[in-house]
Amino acid sequence: MTTYRLPTDARPPLQLRTFTADLAPDAWPPEPVGDSTPALAAACREITHELREGRGWTVVDTGLADLTDDGLCSATWNLFTALCRPVPQYRTGELLYPVEVSSAPTLGSSHYSSSSRTGGYHTDGTLLDVTPHVAMLAGLSTADEGGETVLVDGHALVDRMEHTAPELLGLLRSPHPFHSGDGDHDPVVEHEIVEASADRPRIRYLRRYIEQGHARRGGEMDEKLTAALDAWDELIAAPELRTPVLIRRGQILFWDNFRFVHGRTPFVERTARRRLRRAYGVITAP
Ligand SMILES: [Fe+2]
Repeated sequence: MTTYRLPTDARPPLQLRTFTADLAPDAWPPEPVGDSTPALAAACREITHELREGRGWTVVDTGLADLTDDGLCSATWNLFTALCRPVPQYRTGELLYPVEVSSAPTLGSSHYSSSSRTGGYHTDGTLLDVTPHVAMLAGLSTADEGGETVLVDGHALVDRMEHTAPELLGLLRSPHPFHSGDGDHDPVVEHEIVEASADRPRIRYLRRYIEQGHARRGGEMDEKLTAALDAWDELIAAPELRTPVLIRRGQILFWDNFRFVHGRTPFVERTARRRLRRAYGVITAP
């Protein structure tokens, strides 16, 4: 795995604005920090290029692992807002969200992020009216063992399914209802799982939400759709399509959320916890 090391002269503007841990997840300011520099602007162009035209994901090493947690979260946010316009992660407006095992009650739709469960490969934000283009996970600490984030290239999934089961792929190309399963207040959102877009397919997948969406519409999924999702999940499990990334302190994983489904490997927390911060955004660079 190659890591993009943020140039030294791109780092100072990331430390011009600081926030503290008591800032609510929905209160992070969406505007970029006022003073950028040519070095930071160039770094943002490079990251954007990798996401749009390159392999579709990148790990940025900020070189700022020695900062305090507040300093590191602030620098992460300053870089994110320089790259992207942040979009809420839930209907309740969270912009920077902790991903760590918690015993505290959380939003139903965020159970996965506050648990140590694995599997359930998915696209982020499938319940939102507008699915975010870019997803980010920033590292504060890693677990004692495991806990890699795993990316699976949806373009390769579509290519393979086109060859192995084109009629089942056709079912993924029609609209499906998605629902959180969290009661009546959440709407059912409808969209394709594999959407034909200008030149490349756009993937939006989370199997549990699709099953719950169909249940909410008053019907079980039929056998063919179940077979299509089984075939899709089987492709996701192919080892050669998986890219595991351990996000260390000071590192940030960015990926094209329409291209990659993601999950994680099992992890063990004895003395160290897997602590990440997540954000969604839309690229603002021209
Ligand atoms: Fe996710």
